[in-house]
Amino acid sequence: MNYLLIKILVIAFVIYSLQACVYQRESEVVVCDTLSLSYQQNIQPIFVNNCYICHSAANNVSQGNSINLEGYTNVKSQLDQGYIIPNIKHITVPGKQIDFMPLNLPMLPACDIAQIQAWYNAGAPNN
Ligand code: HEC
Repeated sequence: MNYLLIKILVIAFVIYSLQACVYQRESEVVVCDTLSLSYQQNIQPIFVNNCYICHSAANNVSQGNSINLEGYTNVKSQLDQGYIIPNIKHITVPGKQIDFMPLNLPMLPACDIAQIQAWYNAGAPNN
C-alpha cells in the first residue's frame, strides 16, 4: 500500500518536472539577444544554416551566382558593398539590384535578422 503511494508520488514528481522543462524551453525561445553578439558564436551559424546551401565556398558557383558568404572576409565584403542587410530585410535600394534572400524561401526568423542588424550596427566585428 505504502509502496504504491510512493510510486504514484514519484510518477507525479517526474511529470511535474517534465512540465517545468517545457516551460523553461518556451521562455528561452522568446529571448533574442542583440547585445552580446559574436560573429563566430551567433552570426556565422545563421549564414551556415540559411545561406551556405547556395553561398558556401563549395556551392556558390553552381547555386549562388558566384557570391561566396563563407568566412568573415567574404561576408564583410558584401556588407561593405551595401548587400546582405537589405537582402534579408527585403528592402529595395534605388539604383541597386537587391534580390530578397534566402532566395525563394521564407524570410529569416525575426531574431536572426535583428542579430545580424545589431552586429552590423556595432561595426560588424570579427569576434
Ligand atoms: C536557394 C539558393 C540561395 C539561398 C538559400 C540564398 N541565396 Fe543569396 N543568392 C542566390 C542567387 C542565385 C543569387 C543571385 C541573384 C539571383 O539570381 O537572384 C543570390 C544573390 C545574393 C546576394 C547578392 C546581391 C543580390 O541582391 O543579388 C547576396 C548579398 C545574397 N544572395 C545573400 C544571401 C544571404 C544572406 C542568404 C541567407 C540568408 C542567401 N543569400 C541565401 C541564391 C541563394
